[in-house]
Amino acid sequence: MTISYGSDFGHIEGDARVQIIRRIKELKTALAKLREDGGTVALVPTMGALHAGHMQLVREAGQQADHVVASIFVNPTQFGPNEDLDAYPRQEEADAKLLREAGVAILWAPTAEEMYPHGYATNISVSGVSMGLCGGSRPGHFDGVATVVSKLFHQVEPDIALFGEKDYQQLAVLRRMVLDLDFPLEIVGVPTVRDDDGLALSSRNTYLSAEHRAAAAHFPKALKEGIEKLESGAAVDETLAEIGARILASGFESVDYVALCDADSLVELQVLDRPARLLSAARIGSTRLIDNMAVRPR
Ligand code: PAJ
Repeated sequence: MTISYGSDFGHIEGDARVQIIRRIKELKTALAKLREDGGTVALVPTMGALHAGHMQLVREAGQQADHVVASIFVNPTQFGPNEDLDAYPRQEEADAKLLREAGVAILWAPTAEEMYPHGYATNISVSGVSMGLCGGSRPGHFDGVATVVSKLFHQVEPDIALFGEKDYQQLAVLRRMVLDLDFPLEIVGVPTVRDDDGLALSSRNTYLSAEHRAAAAHFPKALKEGIEKLESGAAVDETLAEIGARILASGFESVDYVALCDADSLVELQVLDRPARLLSAARIGSTRLIDNMAVRPR
């Protein structure tokens, strides 16, 4: 098996191939060819280090569109100055193999220079829905996400684009952006894929020591238990505080937030009177984990 990164194609076993493209001009040519048959195109944007969560998006994309384009770009503008940009796992060869096996037609893997040409000066900022929660603990993060995703939309011009509910606020920010800026595409949200013990799959889980990985399973458990209480009528503030305490007691160093929010606008709720989402971010070791789950009013 060989994957030749020097050329346009990753030639692998038999006829299966995923076209690895790094330049916008080449991408446009490949997309025009792909669209010759009049079929629809789905885009799955990622930062690589692919796991079963990403692959669920790819599978879903293949069911909803004729052709699947996946992108891998570790986007520097969505990382804060003290975040893990340099340490972020990069494993393009293994990723390309997974994408090829899943039937992806094009792997769009632009260089940083191609994405942000010299003198780059434009920023997309979605207010409101991006302000609290992760937007509060990671200033500028959602501007970086909205900017790169809007560029990916212009580059690939997909009919649909798939994003995981794992990053629920990101999904809400991007839905808002697509509505506000008239992007001619549909955003599809995909439920979170979890490990057997309930921990949401994340590229950042690879940072966890064995001890921290075991403790991390208490994070989704604490959210689930909290949701049972909320759904049976417990007071919101008290229950959120209990969830935070339970996360800390299980070995996390700090809790960035535990919040109950309107499922669409992400406005914080004091009372569970509509479809809602419980969202949390917490730090264990040097790793920041996020999770969220649906909460139904009685
Ligand atoms: P990344 O963290 O690589 O995630 C890519 C996509 O996979 C996102 O839509 C994310 O929500 C989804 N995903 C990650 N873990 C998942 C899980 N356990 N179950 C279901 N889906 C999961 O999110 C980003 O990259 C970036 O911000 C990006 C959108 C690519 C912009 O740079």
